[in-house]
Amino acid sequence: MPMDTRVEKITRAVEYIKSIIGGKETPLVGIVLGSGLGKLGELIEERIVIPYKDIPEFAVSTAVGHKGNFIYGRLGGKPVVAMQGRFHFYEGYPMDVVTRPIRVMARLGIQYLFVSNAAGGADPDYNVGDLMIIKDHLNFRPNPLIGPNFEDFGPRFPDMTAPYDLELISKIEKIAAEEGIAVHKGVYSASTGPTYETPAELRYYRQVGADAVGMSTVPEVIVARQCGLRVFGMSVITNKGNFDNVSKVLNDSDDVVVQADKAADRMTVLFRKLIATL
Ligand code: HPA
Repeated sequence: MPMDTRVEKITRAVEYIKSIIGGKETPLVGIVLGSGLGKLGELIEERIVIPYKDIPEFAVSTAVGHKGNFIYGRLGGKPVVAMQGRFHFYEGYPMDVVTRPIRVMARLGIQYLFVSNAAGGADPDYNVGDLMIIKDHLNFRPNPLIGPNFEDFGPRFPDMTAPYDLELISKIEKIAAEEGIAVHKGVYSASTGPTYETPAELRYYRQVGADAVGMSTVPEVIVARQCGLRVFGMSVITNKGNFDNVSKVLNDSDDVVVQADKAADRMTVLFRKLIATL
């Protein structure tokens, strides 16, 4: 049987990245840095930076606040790879392309995936700059595993009873307490975007269990779980929820990036300390 072209594309990207990083240690953790959160990438030591445009079969990030670099290096003393910027469904990329980097990182040998994003507050008590540990998610988009199954990557029907690793969550709660960094723990809800939520939509997401709302992350987590990776996720709240039609607050993507950038240092401390325990 001919090789699945999707697997060939993944293999091409993996081989190119391996040719650049040479015989370095296998990365343990893959990190996806969301809107405005790319700063963590600058703190990776012994960095090798590969622009997405050089990687075969990688898309380019067109979203604001996404730098478009794949980085190999060390964080918390461990070998890591990081994506400064991700691909979104709303950019017009099919789910296979949106999630390709996750399978590439899995093939590079990561065992853990850390995902981050900028998100709006659906819990009315969340404020701009707050951090939220993602404990679960709601998916209001096509599932990235629809279509012929990637048998090489995992089962047709992956279990999703604990998509976000409970041990990693309890470790980070301890680290956050030690560092005096306040964190919420909640449910991330993903819609396609690119529109922000109307007040009625936000009230709906809240009623069905969302604490934060965004346009990313969930496809990557689903694919990571299919590959058997252990996942940790964090949202940075960049705007408060707008639950009525009279508030003067407008959602603005430039402001999202500014607010995420301000919170990135705290998130970086938590990621680095958690990685150091792995
Ligand atoms: N909604 C959806 N996505 C977002 C938001 C929001 O309010 N803020 C940042 N990303």
